Amino acid sequence: MKPRIFKIDPYNIDHDLLKQAVAILHNRGLVAFPTETVYGLGANALDPRASAGIFEAKERPLDDPLIVHISEKDDLYRLTKEVPTKIQKLIDLFWPGPLTVVLEKTDLVPDIVTTGLMTVAVRMPRNSIARKFIELAGVPIAAPSANIFGRPSPTTAKHVLNDLKGKIDVILDGGRTEIGVESTVVKFQDGKVVVLRPGGVDIEDLQSVAGDVTLASETSDLANSPGKYPQHYSPSAKVVIVGNDSRQSEKVLLSAWEMKSYGLSVGILAKQEHADKYRKFKVKVLGPQNDARTCATRLFHMLREFDAKNVDVIISEAISEKGIGLAVMNRLRKAAGPADALR
Ligand code: TXA
Ligand code: MG
Repeated sequence: MKPRIFKIDPYNIDHDLLKQAVAILHNRGLVAFPTETVYGLGANALDPRASAGIFEAKERPLDDPLIVHISEKDDLYRLTKEVPTKIQKLIDLFWPGPLTVVLEKTDLVPDIVTTGLMTVAVRMPRNSIARKFIELAGVPIAAPSANIFGRPSPTTAKHVLNDLKGKIDVILDGGRTEIGVESTVVKFQDGKVVVLRPGGVDIEDLQSVAGDVTLASETSDLANSPGKYPQHYSPSAKVVIVGNDSRQSEKVLLSAWEMKSYGLSVGILAKQEHADKYRKFKVKVLGPQNDARTCATRLFHMLREFDAKNVDVIISEAISEKGIGLAVMNRLRKAAGPADALR
């Protein structure tokens, strides 16, 4: 059965529609909802059977824990044991917003939500629909991104529908998401804030509040964390990345002509400044090279658009890893998979 789609105006929220969605949620239903990062697939986080449904719908491995979403900061203290001062400072500044904190969990959090870990990931989103929905639900909401596991995360209700129709009950359609890549996930270890996944909050901004912030390497101690699956966020097409240097567009063209000569259909994901050079190919603009925020908003959307055009390979230009550019490049590298090797 097709999910019911409730169109919600984020500036003038229809509470009756949200209450209908809440009733379905409390009946162990799955409700997709917009956040400022990407769409989430929500279930009652305090109900293990409801949360189990998320794994089934997404075809998500049972060892990949969910993020628990709350509507007020105080809810954090019921779900977690101790909040270190540095993490508290980050919360004070970046909540509500695209920051997820991993902390030791209390017994209130069912094991399935954390896939048996002693820790739980918590986030308070700032999207008005998400906030109101969680508030009306009166319970925390477990929600991963609302895509089939491994696919690019959804930034529109249509993306959710494409991946999950027949498997979920409701989609709250609040339009395109603002940030376009997922939240920054942090934990506290040995007195330091460690970033497990770069995302909507820039590392530079975390550093200005919490001092020394380290980025967990994508190869080291990331068991049970976001870097665990080397291939992720992938469209059906193969993704190839071309390094961000002065010969970038030359190298893109060389690769594109070479692949075309093998009979492959080529799509190029380009910086706005370079797009004209690639006229002979299917080209999509990621964004201006000095505007990583725009690139972030468009990334997953463009990967899905290339899939709709049935290209065999997407050649993507790398962008600078400053600010949210780090998250953009993290997602692009995962989309390319373990063997991507920058060209
Ligand atoms: O922006 C976002 O974070 C979106 C929206 C919907 O809030 N959600 C999202 O969820 O991206 P998901 O499930 O696609 O990614 C959550 C990541 C997972 O890769 C998981 O490994 C990590 O957070 N995570 C969850 N609980 C964890 C824990 N206890 N320890 C370490 N990592 C954890
Ligand atoms: Mg995800």
